[in-house]
Amino acid sequence: MKGLVYRGPRQVAVEEVDDATIEEPLDAVIRITTTNICGSDLHMYEGRTSVEEGKVLGHENMGIVEAVGPAVGRIRVGDRVSVPFNIACGTCRNCTSGWTSFCLRTNPTEGMDGAAYGYANMGPYDGGQAEFLRVPYADFNLLSLPPGDQFEQDFAMLSDIFPTGYHGTELAEVSPGDSVAVFGAGPVGLMAAHSAFLRGASEVFVVDKESDRLDLAKQIDALPIDLSAGNPVEQIMDQTHGRGVDCGVEAVGYQAHDATGEEHPELVLDNLVEVVRSTGAIGVVGVYMPNDPGAANEQAKQGRIGWEYGTFFSKGQRMGTGQAPVKRYNRQLRDLIIDGRARPSFIVSHELSLDEAPAGYANFDARLDGWTKVLLHPGQ
Ligand SMILES: NC(=O)c1ccc[n+]([C@@H]2O[C@H](COP(=O)([O-])OP(=O)(O)OC[C@H]3O[C@@H](n4cnc5c(N)ncnc54)[C@H](O)[C@@H]3O)[C@@H](O)[C@H]2O)c1
Ligand SMILES: [Zn+2]
Ligand SMILES: [Zn+2]
Repeated sequence: MKGLVYRGPRQVAVEEVDDATIEEPLDAVIRITTTNICGSDLHMYEGRTSVEEGKVLGHENMGIVEAVGPAVGRIRVGDRVSVPFNIACGTCRNCTSGWTSFCLRTNPTEGMDGAAYGYANMGPYDGGQAEFLRVPYADFNLLSLPPGDQFEQDFAMLSDIFPTGYHGTELAEVSPGDSVAVFGAGPVGLMAAHSAFLRGASEVFVVDKESDRLDLAKQIDALPIDLSAGNPVEQIMDQTHGRGVDCGVEAVGYQAHDATGEEHPELVLDNLVEVVRSTGAIGVVGVYMPNDPGAANEQAKQGRIGWEYGTFFSKGQRMGTGQAPVKRYNRQLRDLIIDGRARPSFIVSHELSLDEAPAGYANFDARLDGWTKVLLHPGQ
């Protein structure tokens, strides 16, 4: 089969790779109809992770069940399914308490709980930017979708970024009437803004410097804050009569940069501590790494980031972090899509074939105007 393979910094190629097969009795093999490129893939693409050459990338997958192992009962061949990016066993201590993103069984990497498809440090699993994908513990992990091809773009957001954006608002404890600041207007930030409104937020600020992404924020009635026009904290303080916001979501990650493009891994954490009112909660879904060999200084290379912890403590704030447990939210978000109350596809900008994926990576990585979310259709 064909798959998109990591070949080194800013090098990916579509190659013949080993077929996805049933390896364990609880496995399924999925024929991929849609798989997305994620901002998380860019950390690998830019050479800022330890991902090994030859890995098939892709953790935002959906498709049709092609084959099932002998112990699979609920899921059947021909079912249309969404594949959460977390690979979870369903029976360990973390899985049974709803934290499938920290499964204790599926990731053999020392010191890392939680596994994913096609990702650095997340276990030996190939990704779904390919014709087929092997899914372990299929009955537990797969989310059933209505047959046909309706809502394909919306459902494609259920494997990662819609639940991840929602998780950001859950960690931030967004409640009806809240004022919310979301940092990052990439796909995850825009999904967090969409989710904040679903939870009844009264106003949602979205901070970035990419005008096309800020326009999308405006399209869903969020208030765009352009950080290249001045300090985003001051801009939000001005618009909230000096009160700041009730809670905030971090949807940028360790490659946060200032208006000139210079990286400061602590920048968004500091901005959030400043702009969230005392006793407010902060949800961090942007990724931070325990090791970042490409970081600007020795401390950051070891994942040590100096941020305003003192002010955070003094303000009595709370912070939640980590990979999102997709399964905790994806069924409910699927049903909001079917009922017409959620439309996460508003961010989709490009639909490409698998062969066009290397160009898709380059353009999305360059944040070229209008390249917000790229969907690949390996079956076409
Ligand atoms: N926790 C999870 O489960 C999970 C899942 C998916 C993605 N992620 C992470 O979420 C983050 C965002 O993902 P994405 O797909 O939206 O990525 P993206 O790279 O497309 O978007 C990030 C956005 O942040 C903006 N940005 C950079 N510096 C900023 C600053 N100082 N203030 C405000 N905005 C700034 C960029 O201009 C960009 O638009 C990434 O770190 C990704 O790895 C986490
Ligand atoms: Zn993703
Ligand atoms: Zn588990």
